[in-house]
Amino acid sequence: MYTIDISIKSIAETREKKLERESVCVCVRRAKMEALVCRKLGDPTATETGSPESPVEVSKSYPIPPLSSDTAVRVRVIATSLNYANYLQILGKYQEKPVLPFIPGSDYSGIVDAIGPAVTKFRVGDRVCSFAALGSFAQFIIADQSRMFLVPERCDMVAAAALPVAFGTSHVALVHRARLTSGQFLASSPILSFENVISSVKEFIKTRKLKGVDVLYDPVGGKLTKESMKVLKWGAQILVIGFASGEVPVIPVNIALVKNWTVHGLYWGSYGIHQPSVLEDSIRELLSWLARGLITIHISHTYSLSQANLAFGAIKDRKAIGKVMIALDHKTSMFSKL
Ligand SMILES: NC(=O)c1ccc[n+]([C@@H]2O[C@H](COP(=O)([O-])OP(=O)(O)OC[C@H]3O[C@@H](n4cnc5c(N)ncnc54)[C@H](OP(=O)(O)O)[C@@H]3O)[C@@H](O)[C@H]2O)c1
Repeated sequence: MYTIDISIKSIAETREKKLERESVCVCVRRAKMEALVCRKLGDPTATETGSPESPVEVSKSYPIPPLSSDTAVRVRVIATSLNYANYLQILGKYQEKPVLPFIPGSDYSGIVDAIGPAVTKFRVGDRVCSFAALGSFAQFIIADQSRMFLVPERCDMVAAAALPVAFGTSHVALVHRARLTSGQFLASSPILSFENVISSVKEFIKTRKLKGVDVLYDPVGGKLTKESMKVLKWGAQILVIGFASGEVPVIPVNIALVKNWTVHGLYWGSYGIHQPSVLEDSIRELLSWLARGLITIHISHTYSLSQANLAFGAIKDRKAIGKVMIALDHKTSMFSKL
């Protein structure tokens, strides 16, 4: 008798839970958001976003992602940043090629909107920032709590969205890899590209009786890397960050041998797989610097999702001085059928 009672009760409970789960699923399925969706590869700057020729369009009925695990956190995105890599991804020229269709976008800030039952570090309403391989050009995104960072009260949320990839890459490269110390001479290849800068660097080295540049930070590549190598000292370090010029440079290993250079290939995102604590410590340190005013982040352009063509254009046409951002509008566009 007792056993039957339990069984009937547990069947009823199971059915109730199933209905509850189904209604949650229906609710999640029906709740929609705006997202920039890349449906084919191509240049997002060539035509208006959403035109038949454009590789990207703003979907107004993309399903809001459900919590994918017990430790997942869903964030209502406030701002997300454009990086050169996002542009390369849509062009189909990035080292990682996502399956179509995909929502581009990597670093973002926002407000915690929902948490899984085992989340211990965050509460609904917390101000956070994070980064993902894909998916931040949308009103909502999911991440594991281990990848989420509290944004200190004093930090601007748009600045927090601009920080992870760009500042994180430079911080990991300079602090973790090159172990740059005070008194060392750091040069960045975009700075060296200005007319006469190489000759003034040579002059500076001569007048200060220095032996050359200690660390070269190179996000540009091409012939600029070749030029920059002329000012490197014996024992210098080269940080290979990217190829914004479109040309992969050649660093002759015979010269590296003779000059005892160290060449660091640096792929920031891959630390997330191989040494996540390096990324996490780096972002926490950068956020604390931002809160204390030790770093400021210059935002040169801010656009909406539907202006993605202009946002990518600012990067492609080298109009950006600092960061290009997308701000998400939740007032007018987010909707649910429930
Ligand atoms: N390794 C990694 O983990 C990692 C992480 C982040 C970024 N990256 C790479 O780093 C590169 C820069 O990314 P970003 O997001 O910083 O891009 P960004 O904001 O558009 O900056 C690009 C920089 O490169 C300069 N530049 C572009 N084309 C140039 C050319 N032909 N000659 C000289 N300078 C040129 C620009 O100079 P102006 O200001 O004069 O236009 C600007 O300073 C990209 O290749 C990206 O993929 C790599």
